[in-house]
Amino acid sequence: MNRDRNVLRVTTISIQGLTKRYPRVVALDQLTVDISPGVTGLVGANGAGKSTLIKMLLGLIRPTDGTASVLGHDIRRDGPAIRTLVGYMPEHDCLPPDASAAEFVMHMARMSGLPTGAARERTADTLRHVGLGEERYRPIGGYSTGMRQRVKLAQALVHDPELVFLDEPTNGLDPVGRDDMLDLIRKVHTKFGISVVVTSHMLGELERTSDHVVVLDGGRLAKSETVTALTATTHTLAVEVLDPSGGTDATETARAAFASADLNVRVDGRLLYVAATDDSTVDVIRDAIAGHDLGLVRLQRERHTIAELFTSRDGQTQGSVNDVHA
Ligand SMILES: Nc1ncnc2c1ncn2[C@@H]1O[C@H](COP(=O)(O)OP(=O)(O)OP(=O)(O)O)[C@@H](O)[C@H]1O
Ligand SMILES: [Mg+2]
Repeated sequence: MNRDRNVLRVTTISIQGLTKRYPRVVALDQLTVDISPGVTGLVGANGAGKSTLIKMLLGLIRPTDGTASVLGHDIRRDGPAIRTLVGYMPEHDCLPPDASAAEFVMHMARMSGLPTGAARERTADTLRHVGLGEERYRPIGGYSTGMRQRVKLAQALVHDPELVFLDEPTNGLDPVGRDDMLDLIRKVHTKFGISVVVTSHMLGELERTSDHVVVLDGGRLAKSETVTALTATTHTLAVEVLDPSGGTDATETARAAFASADLNVRVDGRLLYVAATDDSTVDVIRDAIAGHDLGLVRLQRERHTIAELFTSRDGQTQGSVNDVHA
C-alpha cells in the first residue's frame, strides 16, 4: 500500500532555523539539519528539545520561527498529509486500559483510513511483528511495560508509514527488554524499509541501532554525524599501569610516554584515559608501556558518555550536558 517507497529519497527531513520559544524557555533554538533515510538517533539530555522537535515535525505544534519539510511536505501547511505518511510513538503512555491490543491497534488502523478487512490484516501482521502473541486479546491495563511499549510501536506502524518517530521507546524497560526493543527498531528499517527517527538520552543505545546520530543540547544542534564517524572520534581507552620494580610514579611515566607517542591522554588518579582514533592506538599503548618496563594492569574500552560528545579532541568541553552513562 505504500505510495512513494520506490522513490529514492536523499533527504527524509530538512530543517532550517527551526525555533520554538515558550515564555520561559527556548525549547528549540535555530535548528538546521537534514535527516537522511535509514535509522537516525536523536540524542540529548532531559529537556534538550527532542520531543518538541518531533511534535513540530508532525505539525502538532507550531514553530515560532524557521521551516522544515518532512517527506517533501511543509510542516506549517501540511500537518495532516505528514501524519498519514508518518507513524508516531509518543513518549508518554496513551493506551486505553480496558481495550485489548488487538482492539486498540485495529481502531488506530481504521482511524488512518484503512478499510475493515485491510485494517484487520495489518493489525494481525503488525502485532505479530512486534512480538505480541495470544496476550493481544487481553486488556492492555494488565500489560507489563515491555508489552505496552510494543503496543505503542504497533500503533505507529499499522498504517505502513514511510517514516516513524519513536520517542523514547526503551523508557522503563529492563536491559533484556531494551535489547529486544532495539533489535525490533533496527528490523523496522531493515525488514520493512521504513525510516526511523528514535530518541533517547543514552548514546550507547542509539549507537547500536542507528546509522546516523543527531545530538541536541539545550535546543541547539551539537552534532550530526554518522555512527561510524562518531564512534571513531569518541572511543576512549582506560589504562592502568604499575612499576614491577616497585617505583611509585608509573602512572606519570606512562602519561609522558603516551604523550610523546602523540596520544591524547588525561590522568584521573591511577587511571589514564586515552582517546583512541583507530585500532592501532592499542598497539601504541602496549609498545609505550613495554618500552618503559611497566606492567599493564588493565586496558579497557570505556563506555560512552553523552558528555564525551561535547568534548573536542583538545579536551575542551563545548556543551553543558552532564555525564550520562550509556
Ligand atoms: N508546552 C510547553 N510549555 C512550556 N515549556 C515547554 C513545553 N514543552 C516543552 N517545554 C520545555 O521545552 C524544553 C524542551 O522540552 P522537550 O520535552 O522537548 O525535551 P526532551 O528533550 O524531549 O526531554 P525529555 O528527555 O525529558 O523527554 C524543556 O525545557 C521543557 O520544559
Ligand atoms: Mg521528550
